[in-house]
Amino acid sequence: MRNSQKIAVIGLGYVGLPLAVALARHYPTIGFDISEPRIAELHGGFDRTGEVETAQLRGSTLKLSADSDRIRGCDVYIVTVPTPVDEANEPDLRPVLAACRTVGSVMAKGAVVVFESTVYPGVTEDVCGPELERVSGLECGTDFFLGYSPERINPGDREHTVDRITKVVSGQTPEVTEQLAAIYGSLTSGGVFKAASIRVAEAAKVIENAQRDINIAFINEVTMIFRKLGISVYDVLDASATKWNFLNFKPGLVGGHCIGIDPFYLARCAMDNGHDPEIILAGRRINEGMGPWIAREVAKHLDGSARILVLGLTFKENVPDLRNSKVIDVIRELRALGHQVEVHDPYADPKEAAHEYGETLIPSLDGLGPYDCVVGAVPHAPYLAFTGESFETLLKPDGLVADVKALWRDRELPEGMRLWRL
Ligand SMILES: NC(=O)c1ccc[n+]([C@@H]2O[C@H](COP(=O)([O-])OP(=O)(O)OC[C@H]3O[C@@H](n4cnc5c(N)ncnc54)[C@H](O)[C@@H]3O)[C@@H](O)[C@H]2O)c1
Repeated sequence: MRNSQKIAVIGLGYVGLPLAVALARHYPTIGFDISEPRIAELHGGFDRTGEVETAQLRGSTLKLSADSDRIRGCDVYIVTVPTPVDEANEPDLRPVLAACRTVGSVMAKGAVVVFESTVYPGVTEDVCGPELERVSGLECGTDFFLGYSPERINPGDREHTVDRITKVVSGQTPEVTEQLAAIYGSLTSGGVFKAASIRVAEAAKVIENAQRDINIAFINEVTMIFRKLGISVYDVLDASATKWNFLNFKPGLVGGHCIGIDPFYLARCAMDNGHDPEIILAGRRINEGMGPWIAREVAKHLDGSARILVLGLTFKENVPDLRNSKVIDVIRELRALGHQVEVHDPYADPKEAAHEYGETLIPSLDGLGPYDCVVGAVPHAPYLAFTGESFETLLKPDGLVADVKALWRDRELPEGMRLWRL
C-alpha cells in the first residue's frame, strides 16, 4: 500500500537509513544527508554501517540526496541526526539545530517535523521549534507541527529491527499524533504507543538508556568489590540469576553513541531544573572508569614491558561502529603502564580506527605472536570461535589470557597458560 504523503529523512546513519528504507516501502521517501561521500556510497549500494544490505538498497524506491533543495515541500520531515556530547560531556545540539535550519529553509505550511534523535525533555518544543520558526518565518503549532518518536534500534541486532519494535509516537496536537501513529504503524508489526506528550516521549527514551547505564554501573561496581574479595562476578551472577526477579546485567565497557551518552542529556536537564542527578552521574563515573581499572587489574599479572594483543576495538560485538569505544581506555592505560599494545578488529574500518584513535589495526591474526598477553575486549564472532590451539599460536606458553567479556569462559586453556577474568 502506498500513501501520497511525501516524507524526508534527515541524517542517514545507523538510525536514519533503515528507517528511510522501511518508509520507502509505503511512502514516497527521500533520504537527505549533509555527507556527500555517504550519499555517494549509498547510491553505489554500500552501507558502511552494515544495517542495510546492498540488495535491499538497490531494490528500494528510496531517493537519496545531499542537496537540500530536493527535500523542499515535503509533508513530513523526520530528523535522525547525531546528538553527541562535547568535551565537557555537555549535550551538543549543533547537529540537531543545523538540521532544523535545513528543514526550516525548505518546509512549507502544513509540514510536520518529527525528531527521532535522542534528546532530553523539552528539546523538540523549546529548542527545535523556535529554530524552525526563526528560519522558516512560519509559526509553530499553526503553520507547522512538531512530533517526537524515539528510536530504539540497536546496531547489529537483527531481531529488534525497525519493522518489528513498538514505536512510541507523540505529536504537538492529537491530529499529528494520529498521523504519526498511522505512518509508523504501517512500518512496524510491533505496534505504536501514543505517548501523553512530546516531553513524555523524549523522557521515555532518555530513561531507557540511562536505566541500562545505571544497571551496568552497579554490576561494574560489585565487580570491583568482588575482585578485592577474590571471587568472580560471573560466578556470583550465575547464582543470583536463579532468582526470578534478579536483573541479569553483565559487567563491561559502556561505549557507543547511546548508553554512554544519553545519561548526560538527562543529567543536564536535571541540573537545569534544579535537581542534582546523583545516581545518573555516579553511574557514568563508574562506567567511564571501567577501562583504566580493567587495564590496571590485568597489568598486575604482567611483568616488565609485556607484548599485548587486544582483540576488538569497536564499542560492541559484531558491528563496525567505533564511536565512543571504551576499549581505547584499556589500551591507553596499558601503554601508560609501560606495555606494548597491538590491536586487531575484524569489523572496524582501519582508516576510521586511525582517524578516530590513532590506532593502526593489525590486518590479520595469521603469523602473529607469541604475545605475553591476549586481551579479549569485544566478543566478535571470530574470537568466540577460538580454541586452545588459537591461544597456543598467539601466546607464549605461560601467557596470560585476559577475558574481559567472558568470551572463553567454557574454553580449556593449554597447560601453563594463565587466565584473568572479571
Ligand atoms: N545508533 C543507534 O543505535 C541509535 C539508537 C537509538 C537512537 N539513536 C539516536 O539516533 C540519532 C542518530 O544516531 P545514529 O547512530 O544514526 O547517528 P550516525 O552518526 O550513524 O548518523 C547520523 C547521520 O546524520 C548525518 N548528519 C549529521 N548532521 C546532519 C545535518 N545537519 N543534516 C543532515 N544530515 C546530518 C551524518 O552525516 C550521518 O550520516 C542520535 O540522536 C542517537 O542518539 C541511535
